Amino acid sequence: MVEYERHDYDVIVIGAGGAGLRAAIEASAQGARTALICKSLLGKAHTVMAEGGIAAALGNVWPQDNWKVHFRDTMRGGKMLNNWRMAQLHAQEAPDRVNELEEWGALFDRTDDGRILQRDFGGHRYARLAHVGDRTGLELIRTLQQHAVHKGIDVFMECTVSRLLKDGDRVSGAVAYWRESGNLLVFNAKSVVLATGGIGKAFSVTSNSWEYTGDGHALAYWAGAELIDMECVQFHPTGMVWPPSVRGILVTEGVRGDGGTLRNSDGERFMFNYIPDFFAAETADTIEEADGWYEDKENNRRTPDLLPRDEVARAINSEVKAGRGSPHGGVFLDIASRRSTEYIRRRLPSMYHQFKQLADVDITAQPMEVGPTMHYIMGGIRVAADTGAATVPGLFAAGECAGGMHGANRLGGNSLSDLVVFGRRAGLGAVEDAARVSAPEADDAQVKEIVSEMRAPFERDGAEGPYEIQRDLQETMNSLVGIIRTESELLEARERIDGLKGRAANVGVYGHQQYNPGWHLAIDLQALMTVSEATARAANVRQESRGGHTRDDYPGPNDAEWGNKNVVIRQGADGEMEVTTSPLPEMPADLQELFEE
Ligand code: FUM
Repeated sequence: MVEYERHDYDVIVIGAGGAGLRAAIEASAQGARTALICKSLLGKAHTVMAEGGIAAALGNVWPQDNWKVHFRDTMRGGKMLNNWRMAQLHAQEAPDRVNELEEWGALFDRTDDGRILQRDFGGHRYARLAHVGDRTGLELIRTLQQHAVHKGIDVFMECTVSRLLKDGDRVSGAVAYWRESGNLLVFNAKSVVLATGGIGKAFSVTSNSWEYTGDGHALAYWAGAELIDMECVQFHPTGMVWPPSVRGILVTEGVRGDGGTLRNSDGERFMFNYIPDFFAAETADTIEEADGWYEDKENNRRTPDLLPRDEVARAINSEVKAGRGSPHGGVFLDIASRRSTEYIRRRLPSMYHQFKQLADVDITAQPMEVGPTMHYIMGGIRVAADTGAATVPGLFAAGECAGGMHGANRLGGNSLSDLVVFGRRAGLGAVEDAARVSAPEADDAQVKEIVSEMRAPFERDGAEGPYEIQRDLQETMNSLVGIIRTESELLEARERIDGLKGRAANVGVYGHQQYNPGWHLAIDLQALMTVSEATARAANVRQESRGGHTRDDYPGPNDAEWGNKNVVIRQGADGEMEVTTSPLPEMPADLQELFEE
């Protein structure tokens, strides 16, 4: 007999960033018995790394803005690979969700006449990001957390889910362990919402923290759900590059939104050399016009420093490769020469302290050194746009672990709005689904099998430990499945991942289950292997360049062949990963017209 704590709920939500919190709030508000389970402490989520703002067409700064423009920007930024219905719901509902956050206590920065202030970000036609200095994600989490606590949701903190349970075809709960005691828990749930965030810890340079090991993607895949577009990985153009201990930490796009410019080691504003045809009509091609845009946005085209992230990250990569990088392998980001000290410290207080404390750089007087950092995965669990339902009954997903919303490249600020729009929708979807089924009962044989797999590393005393395996995986993903990809490198990555999977299957740990980070990582390695394999395989299949997927051997998009296809990953009957494609849902004519204007 396996010993475990047993918990019964209508809905369990796995992951407590913005999407998980918003899903749990909704489920609980609908009267469902709801649990929120998170791997880390409540409030510590990658959501806080969306620093610069939440995108919503409130029209406070630009009255011309509306959901249709936001929808169009999002689709164009995603290189039209987005699920159009998700992009539509997102653009239509984001303003309500922002106003709701304000009602729940979020303290956004204000315009002179007291409305929510909005700032510029890459790929957005108008200043659209409601923000709280450069700590917007933190404020969003604080607000949702406070609201959730008042709803009486049961929270299981520092508790990691390692497998979902099934009752026939349906997901019926989860097996988890307390990180501190190592004791086991079994959750019986009528429906399960995954909101676990991304896969950043599969890469060596990332803005993600230790929790982001692709858990939700892998849990869904192992339970039989489909993943889409796992090749679409976002490298945020500006992460810290120096000192080495902080490499990858995010430098908000708000720096460029508020006037910061990128320069190479020759002092050149190199972004003018990288304006793609796709965005040429709206992008300034002279320094004079770009600079004029900061002061007179009505009559000038936008600066190329604020092109979408995929374009800027590739440009920085090219500059560094061409030998025009900064001393530590990045480029320079300068805001000091355009804005006053008072302005910078008021608008970007976290950036000021981050550089002062971590790099001894005063950004009010000196340029920052920045370079691309793996920040986000657009690919994820295939969901129904309106409900968040995955392709396996009883399972829902929202936020970064769900695919479709952002297509091949996410616009900055669209993540926070995604979390609250689709977190709410997945919470509702899960409750409606739960009402149709009776309470499940965990199958002991399944639990036993899962637990014996979890404990297996203890029985391999003397075998290789998990840390080296993770480091080798991160190095493989960064160097072979990074910003620029080629077939030969992707095939090499797959071969290496196969080898790493073998090593991970034989990983050993010492000691016992009580607070044992080595054991936790040994378990996390399973998810890391699954999502890395999915990313490498999908990247090899998509023979074109689109958004966050750039193939050196297939430069440029191939609309005829690939513009209308998702790459789909699922587990085959033999347990092997299958990769196929499926057509995108067709956009209705009234929305298509928006692209002809
Ligand atoms: O640059 C940033 O502040 C990040 C925002 C985001 O990823 O949405």
